[in-house]
Amino acid sequence: MTSTQTHRTQAQPVAEKRDAAPTSRLPGLHRKPVAERRALCTEHVDEALRFPLETGATLPLEVADRMSENVIAIQGLPLSVATNFRVAGRDVLVPMSVEEPSVVAAASNAARMVRLGGGFEGEADAAIMTAQVQLDEVPEPELATARVAEARDALVAAANAAIPRMVARGGGCCDVEARVVDAETGLVVLHFYVDVGDAMGANLVDTVAEAVAPEVHALLGGTLGLRILSNLPVRRMVRVGCRVSADSVGGLELARAIERASRFAERDPYRAVTHNKGIMNGIDAVAVALGQDWRSIEAGAHAHAAMGAAGSGPYRPLATWRVEGDHLVGALELPLAVATVGGSTRVHPGVRAAFGILDVKGARELALVMAAAGLASNLAALRALAGEGIQQGHMRLHARKSTEENR
Ligand code: MEV
Repeated sequence: MTSTQTHRTQAQPVAEKRDAAPTSRLPGLHRKPVAERRALCTEHVDEALRFPLETGATLPLEVADRMSENVIAIQGLPLSVATNFRVAGRDVLVPMSVEEPSVVAAASNAARMVRLGGGFEGEADAAIMTAQVQLDEVPEPELATARVAEARDALVAAANAAIPRMVARGGGCCDVEARVVDAETGLVVLHFYVDVGDAMGANLVDTVAEAVAPEVHALLGGTLGLRILSNLPVRRMVRVGCRVSADSVGGLELARAIERASRFAERDPYRAVTHNKGIMNGIDAVAVALGQDWRSIEAGAHAHAAMGAAGSGPYRPLATWRVEGDHLVGALELPLAVATVGGSTRVHPGVRAAFGILDVKGARELALVMAAAGLASNLAALRALAGEGIQQGHMRLHARKSTEENR
């Protein structure tokens, strides 16, 4: 890589450029040689971003050495592109990195059915993260909520004073509330809600939590405890849905079997967790390809599932399916803290190239695409399970692959 290419790769924000969106319909892509596939999926990507993919330098050792500690080598994963996705009226080529065979093919296949009905639609909340400040042995914990409400403006101002650059970019702390977690021991937790823009936001809200702690302590007394983000960002939800004709999924009988599979997960946590694992196949694969904090995504998703509709369980599926007339209708909701700036989006050439392929405007659009990948993965899994069975489906895919390899 020349120094100009290195410089351009590092200096250009990953989510800024946006030319005409490429089509995500690339029939027969899987049958083409890798180089041809890559050329087709990166036609719209800047040369400097594309370069690491073409040379195999997706993570130079010196970059890896700055990302973590005690680095000894590079551990690779495939970088794939899921096709056929149409999200909020726009075609997107979806980068995925995953060690499990069939995830990318399954998501692409389900996305093809969904696009026949117009694609995925949805909305992502503003990027509001939660900072927690813990106080134990608070005297008169029953008065905490009122005291915090009274001091709200001063507390919000103290939070914003700690993150002036985020405030200047239009984000910042927008709300604070007190939760009396245990009145007997005086355990009171304050939540500061912070709009982190296109960042994941962990560092920002940790900064807020630490900065406001003295003021919180002075207000409520007790013993100061942890000051840290919550990985359950309840105000940073994403919701996607799709409406697929029963014919596209394989007929009304199969659509009804998918609804029965959904109802099974809605009643049984043992099934719901596997149902959700299938959703996370898609979401995590995109998260890994795009250098996101997948542990936080996983933690938040399962915590949301465990909250249940009533806020206290039982564990439920993140996505549900119903037959409406001659259509199958799916809906998915989960908290999703994802970023188009900061972290490895700045330094990892392979991640930057993957962002070039996806070409999203910001974190909310990214959340929407990731949720669509989750819903597509779920549809593919349920369709296989409710029909021929997952092993049969896998076997067919593997058989086809080895036949193609032998050709
Ligand atoms: C396998 O990775 C995912 C599935 O188990 C999901 C599901 O059962 O819904 C097939």
